[in-house]
This record gives sequence, C-alpha cells and structure tokens, in this order.
Amino acid sequence: RPAVTLASLAAQRARGEKIAMLTAYDATFGLLADRAGMDCLLVGDSLGMVCQGLTSTTPVSLDTMVYHTESVSRGLRHGGGSAWLLTDLPFGSYHLSREQALASALRLIQAGAQMIKLEGGGWTAEMVAFLVERGVPVCAHLGLTPQTVHVLGGYRLQGREDAAAQKLLNDAIALEQAGAAMVVLEMVPAALARQVTAALAHCATIGIGAGSGTDGQVLVVHDMLGATTGRLPRFVRNFLADGNHEGGIAGAMAAYVAAVKSGQYPDDSLHAW
Ligand code: KIV
Ligand code: NA
Repeated sequence: RPAVTLASLAAQRARGEKIAMLTAYDATFGLLADRAGMDCLLVGDSLGMVCQGLTSTTPVSLDTMVYHTESVSRGLRHGGGSAWLLTDLPFGSYHLSREQALASALRLIQAGAQMIKLEGGGWTAEMVAFLVERGVPVCAHLGLTPQTVHVLGGYRLQGREDAAAQKLLNDAIALEQAGAAMVVLEMVPAALARQVTAALAHCATIGIGAGSGTDGQVLVVHDMLGATTGRLPRFVRNFLADGNHEGGIAGAMAAYVAAVKSGQYPDDSLHAW
C-alpha cells in the first residue's frame, strides 16, 4: 500500500474514514501492525510502563524514546512498511523552552519519527508553533495527560465539569491554530470529544477512552492483546480474546483496524463515559 502521509491522513479525515493508530515499541510488533493496515504507529512513552516496568511515564528519557523509535523505524524500513510513525516527547524534554522542544524533536526525527507528540494545553502552543514552522509535524495530547498524573491525582476521567470541558475545547482550538495536525484526546466524555472534533477545521482528533466521535482511535498494543497484569481500563477491548484466535496477533491487529474503520469500536455503551 502507498505510504501514509500528512496529506493522505488529511484526505482520510476529510472523507470521513477513521484513522487507526496503535502503539509500537519494537520492530516486530511495529511491522505486524503496519501489515495489519494500521494508519499510524505511535512510539508512546507508555513504554515506560509496559516495557520498562516504571510506575508512571514521567521518568522515561529521551534516549529511551530514541532507542525504541529506531527499532520500530528499522522494522518498517526493512519490511517495506508504510504507516505514519509518531513518537512521544517524554516528560521534561520540551518543558524548558521552544529551543529545547526542537532539539528533542530533532533527535526523534533522526531516529525515524515523522511526527512528534507532546502533552499539554495552551502553554504548549508556543512549542507547537515553533516546531511546525520549522518543519516538524506535531500531534498534541489533551485530557488525561499521563505525564502530569501526579498533578491530576490519578488516571481518571478529565473534562467532566463545564469549566474543564470549556478549557479543553479552547486548548484544542489554540493548538490547531498553532499548527498541530493531530490531537489525542484521552479519557474525556464522548460528548466532549465529539464537540472538539466538530470544532476543529483540519486537526484530526484521535481518541482513547473518548468515545466514538473522534476522527480516529489509539490503543496501547499490550492492552488490546490482553497482555496486561493489572485490570484493563473500561475503554479497552481485548481483540485477541474476541473471536480472533485463528488469526493470532496479526489477526487481532487487523480486527482492531476493521472495528475502528467500521465504527464498531469503540462502542459508546461499553467503552465510553
Ligand atoms: O504513550 C502512549 O501510549 C500514548 C497513547 C496512549 C495515546 O500517549
Ligand atoms: Na504517551
């Protein structure tokens, strides 16, 4: 299939075809997801928890993000992959200044990322604009922003009260104006995610625990394969257990892509707030 690009993602959003995104941390799973038809692969700093055994994403280093980005990128390159590859800027790697954000982004780009993702509201707009003006595509991340879990007081639903919902909407608009081409909306009410999606002219919304009204969906690969030791969050569906035994891991990934595209996942009566 042809390479996924910013332009093809914009066209996909415009024609209403949902964007399927999955996290990837290594060459094999990245290429399997690509071959399953994933539009986008995210080297998420969730690797701190699922790969490194940390209790939050805050200690994840930029060097670690570079290492995993190189691994996924090599897998795609050697296997003829075509998914759009984005990587998280980890906590502390963009907080000091726009210059720090660009220097950190450059390392991820050199490692093979095509877009970087950073968490935070309006205060990040200056970083986003600085990067986009200099040729680095940016994905924003609002709602539950795990890097600030210690401030938020836990992994819980965000944007529940009117004031918080309004702030999230304003932040999304500010980030779109700053040039963000995508925004992840994590753990927000489905109605709010739908409202944000409608308010944005060209910035694609990618939901996780945000209901079915976004332009796309993202899941942590371990979660959707049931490779978890704790309790699965309500918004997750185990695609390996869900009738895809014969197809194994590749089949589960393909089933996720199909369910996102058809609108069968997420089901707002099961997976949303
Ligand atoms: O780190 C991550 O995996 C993420 C996604 C869950 C959006 O940021
Ligand atoms: Na992340």
